[in-house]
Amino acid sequence: MQFDEKSMVITGGGSGIGAAIARAASAKGARVCVADLDQGKAQAIADEIGGIAVQCDVGDEAAIQSVIERAEAAHGPVDIWVSNAGLGKGDPSHAASQPNEHWELNWQVHVMAHVYAARALLPSMIERGSGYLVNVASAAGLLNQIGDAAYSATKHAAVSFAESLAITHGADGIGVSVVCPQYVATPLLGLSDADARANLLTADDVAEAVVAGVEAERFLILSHPDVAKYAAHRGADHDRWVSGMQMLRAKAIETFGEVSVENFYKLV
Ligand SMILES: NC(=O)c1ccc[n+]([C@@H]2O[C@H](COP(=O)([O-])OP(=O)(O)OC[C@H]3O[C@@H](n4cnc5c(N)ncnc54)[C@H](O)[C@@H]3O)[C@@H](O)[C@H]2O)c1
Repeated sequence: MQFDEKSMVITGGGSGIGAAIARAASAKGARVCVADLDQGKAQAIADEIGGIAVQCDVGDEAAIQSVIERAEAAHGPVDIWVSNAGLGKGDPSHAASQPNEHWELNWQVHVMAHVYAARALLPSMIERGSGYLVNVASAAGLLNQIGDAAYSATKHAAVSFAESLAITHGADGIGVSVVCPQYVATPLLGLSDADARANLLTADDVAEAVVAGVEAERFLILSHPDVAKYAAHRGADHDRWVSGMQMLRAKAIETFGEVSVENFYKLV
């Protein structure tokens, strides 16, 4: 789908990858609604690109419906919805050490938010025979994020739900992309553009890949090409892949003295 003149919503659009996608889509002519938990950040990006800002918790289905109402009142029926909001915290100790509240939050933000958006938008998109859903998951949804079990499990679920959307609604004229970046220099990792290097892309790099992927209507958008190679290794020999990940985890402890999610980009 092309972006010109399209009505687009992006969640988590106040920061990092979401803000970069908002700017890139606006530069291509989209009318953008920036939705974020943080009203101030959403407003700043909306002001910059001439869009609108809506405060919203994507884990609240009624809030998603109200974002759609606000976006449609300002820009017309939503053509492109980008579910991008996300969080990452890491495991305090063993792989099940985060409390249930944290697992539930990951489930709501990384999976149910995508379900709520699809549930609200699909009936009218199917009726129009057109619409595009972009779900930002992660390379952790194809591989794993060492040191963050809730993030890895829910990002896998996000990839699976995107597959279900694509398989079920391709014939209805609905486009679906799932975005699976590896490390990106954003506030999520406590990083900024100045930290970017090989294997640690800027948010703008990812936004460029997302815009090109949506324009080409590609299901799997990989900003980091190596992820395809790692996923192929995992598919070819899962036991060998787990052994490799165990070695990578041991290397992280040896190098940094701990398993901290924000340090892994230095090892890959
Ligand atoms: N940074 C990375 O290395 C990386 C890698 C792979 C995937 N991702 C994914 O990309 C997406 C964007 O991450 P980012 O790195 O730009 O992070 P970020 O922290 O810079 O931005 C995330 C935004 O989401 C918003 N948000 C969080 N919870 C929300 C909620 N409940 N409702 C509405 N908004 C909410 C935050 O306020 C923030 O503005 C996430 O889904 C993340 O998992 C990031």
